[in-house]
Amino acid sequence: MDYLTVALAKGRLAKDTLERLRAADMAAAIDMDSRKLVFRDEKDGIEYLLVKPVDVVTYVEKGVADIGVVGKDIILEQNLDVYELLDLQFGKCAFAIAGFPNTDLYGPEKVLKIATKFPHITRKYFAGKREIETIYLNGSVELAPLMNMSDCIVDLVETGSTLKENGLVVLEKMFDIQAKLIGNRASYQFSYDKIQTFIKAVEREGTVDATDYSWQ
Ligand code: PRP
Repeated sequence: MDYLTVALAKGRLAKDTLERLRAADMAAAIDMDSRKLVFRDEKDGIEYLLVKPVDVVTYVEKGVADIGVVGKDIILEQNLDVYELLDLQFGKCAFAIAGFPNTDLYGPEKVLKIATKFPHITRKYFAGKREIETIYLNGSVELAPLMNMSDCIVDLVETGSTLKENGLVVLEKMFDIQAKLIGNRASYQFSYDKIQTFIKAVEREGTVDATDYSWQ
């Protein structure tokens, strides 16, 4: 069978993604608790790949997956050539600059040191506004200002509890983020009907992107 291949992000988005698919009577074959990475759904002719969130865009850009579900944060950071097909209205959070209260982001220090998992987004955001140095970390970035390794962080904020529990606050909100359905450019042409069927099954009313990305 000629399957439509769909890359799904494991981790934070997995539960909401699966809920959305199940609500559309899809993805019965997927077992998130197993260690299996490929699930085939013969009923819908769909093959699901479970991959790390940071790898979803790569699988789609390379055409290994025709479409994928991933956070806008990762799409922006990786800046790869894929179509954004649909806002999924879950995985909502915000990018923010955070640090100790009263940190002066635009103060007299020549260079602002920023710890982040998102150096590309951070550099773009500050371009022309402020001289910065990014310190790349793979996680738990809130630790960097606590240990005086950076002046602040750029990170995702969802409930705000990680910041609060570490005595940090949002200093400047940057922009909102949510989960997106993305597509490979060639697949969008050659598997157009299958992709449209998938979109119709998972879309909800009001899935319009109202986010302002004009800073890019
Ligand atoms: C994310 C993000 C923050 C935290 C925000 O990290 O980088 O640290 O969640 O969520 P909150 O506002 O609800 O507290 P994640 O849990 O993915 O782990 P990481 O720090 O290891 O990257």
